[in-house]
Amino acid sequence: MGKFEKNASIEDHQISQQIYNHHVKQFKNNHDKMPSKKLTIISDIHGNLEAFKAVLSDVDDLGLETIVCLGDNIGYGPDPDEVLKLLRSRNIPSLMGNHEWGLVDESSLFWFNPQARRSLLQNQQLLSDESLAYLETLPINMFINDCLLVHACPPDSFRTYLFELSPIQLTEIFKEMEYGLCMVGHTHDLVLISYTDGQVKTERLVEGTQILDEKSKHIINVGSVGQPRDGNNNAKYIIWDSETRTLEVRFVPYDIKITVEKIMALGLPRINADRLW
Ligand SMILES: [Fe+2]
Repeated sequence: MGKFEKNASIEDHQISQQIYNHHVKQFKNNHDKMPSKKLTIISDIHGNLEAFKAVLSDVDDLGLETIVCLGDNIGYGPDPDEVLKLLRSRNIPSLMGNHEWGLVDESSLFWFNPQARRSLLQNQQLLSDESLAYLETLPINMFINDCLLVHACPPDSFRTYLFELSPIQLTEIFKEMEYGLCMVGHTHDLVLISYTDGQVKTERLVEGTQILDEKSKHIINVGSVGQPRDGNNNAKYIIWDSETRTLEVRFVPYDIKITVEKIMALGLPRINADRLW
């Protein structure tokens, strides 16, 4: 655990160091051993209540109990407050995503392209005081059952895009990983990056199950529940069984039309709706 604290450096000096340090410190309280060997990981709900409810229904049908969320619960979609309330009512712990950070540290709003920034500021108007206060509590990363969870890139970035990193940079990240597995979201793309005998291999993940080699280290991008960028309009999430080392990718259909109509009725950018199809 000390290693993470040492590595909790700021990737980008344009963010508020004081606020960031506050959230990294919360990592101490999130080094958990969960009783369940099966961990359900969701990410990037982005205010899409219908997709989120469909995923929860699928999770409940499978009898899964331990769910964690990698952040970006808000932004783009029409129901940010309802999504945050549902997360909290289900006791699903969430990490800080870059969209939450945009409201926690408003000096970072310049990061976002104009339509993402406009969506986030419209989302801000839809959030209750309680939800805005909740955003302030989110940690940067968590460590559960020997797996590091972080929004974008290990060990502590909610903003770095994995696809922008070279194989050499990825190799350095894997060398620093004292653990075998890390789960991320952020790009909205399901990807498995493996590090075996000094070699990095990146592959897209598809629906279904596979066993992960325990001799390799892995970074898994779990995809997006509510704002797909991979050409497939289902809500997506993963289940990780640390006992059998089985990774299951789940695709869940939902009623996209309802979400699209809400986005248009609220006057959010049209692209936020178009991307859902
Ligand atoms: Fe996102």
